[in-house]
Amino acid sequence: MKVLLNEQQLKQGVDRLAAEISTAWGRRPMTMIGVLNGCIVFIADLIRRLEIPLRIELIQASSYRGQTTRGPLSLAGDRQLELVGRHVLLVDDILDTGHTLATLQNRFWKAGAASVRTAVLLRKVGCQQVQVAADFVGFELPDQFVVGYGLDYQDQLRNLPYLAAMEPGDFRPLSDGDPLIAEQERR
Ligand code: XMP
Repeated sequence: MKVLLNEQQLKQGVDRLAAEISTAWGRRPMTMIGVLNGCIVFIADLIRRLEIPLRIELIQASSYRGQTTRGPLSLAGDRQLELVGRHVLLVDDILDTGHTLATLQNRFWKAGAASVRTAVLLRKVGCQQVQVAADFVGFELPDQFVVGYGLDYQDQLRNLPYLAAMEPGDFRPLSDGDPLIAEQERR
């Protein structure tokens, strides 16, 4: 794996994003909706930098069925959110094809939200298949599969404190003794 963003760079990016969101949002109450599982680290860091009155909802969306390939989007914990008249900030780890954000945005508008904006830590450049605007973007990346800071490969590596790109030799079924998993233990 190749480190793309170290802890310091991630911290600075989230600081910058929080400042942008604060300026744009004003004092309107926010309903932040995080997309699990990938948002966990990002959202935890982001909320502690915002001084806006906010409530938090979490929704589980998953589109990866293979190792890194996209399958149909499935939503779990798919209960009815109370969004009528609310100003929503949808928070996801990464904007790739755009299907996840587009589907969720549409859903929140239909649920009666007064506004729906989106914040992503990462945006893969040139990968969007559906038109979707990300209002707040932490970092832009070329098309590569990334892990760490909440993002996973085979449900592993989310707890790396940095963001790394997987290299061709890294894509294999991971078992407990795999050197990639040992990377987390070595820290
Ligand atoms: P779409 O294609 O709907 O994808 O914009 C958004 C979701 O896909 C996952 N995703 C990734 N997860 N490394 C990951 O660990 C990646 O490089 C990557 N690219 C997309 C992620 O769950 C995101 O919410």
